[in-house]
Amino acid sequence: MADEKEAYLAEVEKTRPERMKWFHDARFGMFVHWGLYAQIGRNEWAMNIECIPKAEYEKLAETWKPKPRPMREWCKLARKAGMKYMVMTTKHHEGFCLWDTKMTDYNAVARGPKRDLVREYVEACREFGLKIGFYYSLMDWHHPDGATCAKDEAARRRFCDFTYGCVRELMSNYGKIDVLWYDVSWPLDSPEKWESLKMNKMARALQPHILINDRSQIPEDFSTPEGHVKPADAGRGWEACMTFNDTSWGYMPSAAPDAVTARDILKMLNTAAANEGNLLLNIGPAPDGSVPEDAVAPLTAVGKWIAANKEAVIGTFDRGGLGGTACGWGTVKGSTVYFWCKNWPGTSITIGGYTTKLKKATLLASKKALKIEQKPYQIKLSGMPKVSPDKFAGITVIKLEFASKPEYVWGATTMNLEAMGIK
Ligand code: GLC
Repeated sequence: MADEKEAYLAEVEKTRPERMKWFHDARFGMFVHWGLYAQIGRNEWAMNIECIPKAEYEKLAETWKPKPRPMREWCKLARKAGMKYMVMTTKHHEGFCLWDTKMTDYNAVARGPKRDLVREYVEACREFGLKIGFYYSLMDWHHPDGATCAKDEAARRRFCDFTYGCVRELMSNYGKIDVLWYDVSWPLDSPEKWESLKMNKMARALQPHILINDRSQIPEDFSTPEGHVKPADAGRGWEACMTFNDTSWGYMPSAAPDAVTARDILKMLNTAAANEGNLLLNIGPAPDGSVPEDAVAPLTAVGKWIAANKEAVIGTFDRGGLGGTACGWGTVKGSTVYFWCKNWPGTSITIGGYTTKLKKATLLASKKALKIEQKPYQIKLSGMPKVSPDKFAGITVIKLEFASKPEYVWGATTMNLEAMGIK
């Protein structure tokens, strides 16, 4: 078993760079939490937080009547925002399956919606040219063995067969799927108990190109920092997943005042781009499937910003980015630094720390050339507009083209330089 796992992980690692190319290039994706909980509108954990009895919660399966094909609206907005892929909850912790499954009749075809919502989602993604991800919660508050499986071997056997069967249907019935996004592996405390190896091998046999996240207790392809955009593992992938309001993944109208702004989203993308990471930003559609209103304006502005500043945010950058001003942080590609100026300094800016010759400085979006005065460890740029010229989020990118890969000395105050023995 140990050998089998090692051989599997070695193979996953070997094929990863090729499989992950699109993911690294994509940078930005849309997470969608949609399920029965949207009708409650008080967080996707409502069943648990409010301790709603199963029989009462089940009634939501009958009353859920989404409008026709709302996924087309999500996909349209995702495209507008510059996103390249989608991940939708096929089954969240509540246990309701959004697809046509034979594993349980607690599903969208047998109950209220009377439609295969996963099929509609997949079709919309294909129509709009977005890569397709399936979120699947291992934890299940509805399945009779979902909790007892931790203590009762017969229950564990049944629950693992159920889980395997669900994943197999998702991997078999919808054509090419790009991401398998597991969540919460409660209550079994080892991948052996979940039989994750067998399950993920099956997924990869059916979908050889698939990327699998790290939440089935096997590290697989990429890690998933949640609620913060924190750079993780070099070499592998990482993808920060974020809510739109710091409160809820599922639809929750009262959380709208806390919705993130275009600036907030761009700051997250800045950190992701500078550190080989991705941002998976969530929306929680209304029960009828409508996109929450608070997401539209920020995502539209971000899309326009990305279109105007693509070079600074899309693609592969040297890990770590570079600083040098109080105004922002740079993404670096070879001999070019893209300074994301979040706080506009006015008509000139002084950047400390660089020792490499700067050949050219321009405002990325307008290509306006700036005047350069360079001394050792100090670059002064002038000829800039008084206010930030970026209309979408007030974040203007200054493109610095150096003669070679820039050398940068951290903390280059004159005093420190003397102490470091550098003149
Ligand atoms: C957490 C939550 C869940 C959400 C997920 C997204 O694990 O339990 O509600 O779907 O994060 O990453």
